[in-house]
Amino acid sequence: MAISTYFFGYNPAIVRMPYGVLESKLNLPFLCYSVLPGCRVYDRGDLSFTEVPNDEPYNNLVQYPRSVGLASQVLADAVSRAVAAGHSCVTMGGDHSLALGSVSGHAQQCPHLCVIWVDAHSDINTPLTTQSGNLHGQPVSFLLRELQDKMPLLPGFSWLKPCLSTSDIVYIGLRDVDPAEHYILKNYDIQYYSMRDIDRLGIQKVMERTLEQLISRRQRPIHLSFDIDAFDPSLAPATGTPVLGGLTYREGMYVTEEIHNTGLLSAVDLVEVNPLLGASQEDANATASLAVDVIATCFGQTREGAHAVFDELP
Ligand code: ARG
Ligand code: MN
Ligand code: MN
Ligand code: MN
Repeated sequence: MAISTYFFGYNPAIVRMPYGVLESKLNLPFLCYSVLPGCRVYDRGDLSFTEVPNDEPYNNLVQYPRSVGLASQVLADAVSRAVAAGHSCVTMGGDHSLALGSVSGHAQQCPHLCVIWVDAHSDINTPLTTQSGNLHGQPVSFLLRELQDKMPLLPGFSWLKPCLSTSDIVYIGLRDVDPAEHYILKNYDIQYYSMRDIDRLGIQKVMERTLEQLISRRQRPIHLSFDIDAFDPSLAPATGTPVLGGLTYREGMYVTEEIHNTGLLSAVDLVEVNPLLGASQEDANATASLAVDVIATCFGQTREGAHAVFDELP
């Protein structure tokens, strides 16, 4: 009996944002590598960033604009090069501001990409609507062309050009949306499936409608931006802004299985895994293993199992 290796059609390159102890302690790339048979994983290591001294808040509120701007530019370049080399690019974070760089870099190579944003939050505040001042709550506003007349120029951001239209992004899992963000979602007619929508429709319909909107008329590369806080905090406790009532494990796996099955997945962000915020080592480990399952499923791990070409059973 001969079993040949199953080819998933992806060779993910991994770009990591430094996040304290996460990668060194939990060795996510190694875990991913070991659960991705048939994939050749190119680990590009941690990106290194130069800290910008005297990085004063913009408007007395928005934190570290020059540092985030510069780091995003470095990341965009790394993602662009990985995609140009023919890889699907996995960016592990780090907070969700990294999507500024990963989506921009991906779009430099794939201008017609679309985005599936799986998150409890819509991360679409502008620097003028944010209440927290955190750039992790704002990346989408920088990426959307239609919002540009509402965007001030932040120091460190002059390199960034919006690369998405409002119809190119679909959200899944929302349940904590600020009033200004809700206004933007409604006013610009941005498609989202909140947890309530998932309760009503079921995750199968949600994925069907998501893929119908984004790829039924033309095939195009998919950028999955997956915030671990989309999951229920009972599953993903080690994260910065947990919100009750999130995705079940099964719903999360269904999302990534369906995305894998399109054959169009071109880049993945896995963000907001922060072991320092876990109440215990078990919390940190559970959150990281969940992240590994998300990534592995994106690249072909299945719940039903898989087999190579069989000649016959013994
Ligand atoms: N809406 C809040 C804010 O603007 C929370 C954003 C949470 N985003 C995240 N990537 N954790 O600050
Ligand atoms: Mn954060
Ligand atoms: Mn997020
Ligand atoms: Mn979130």
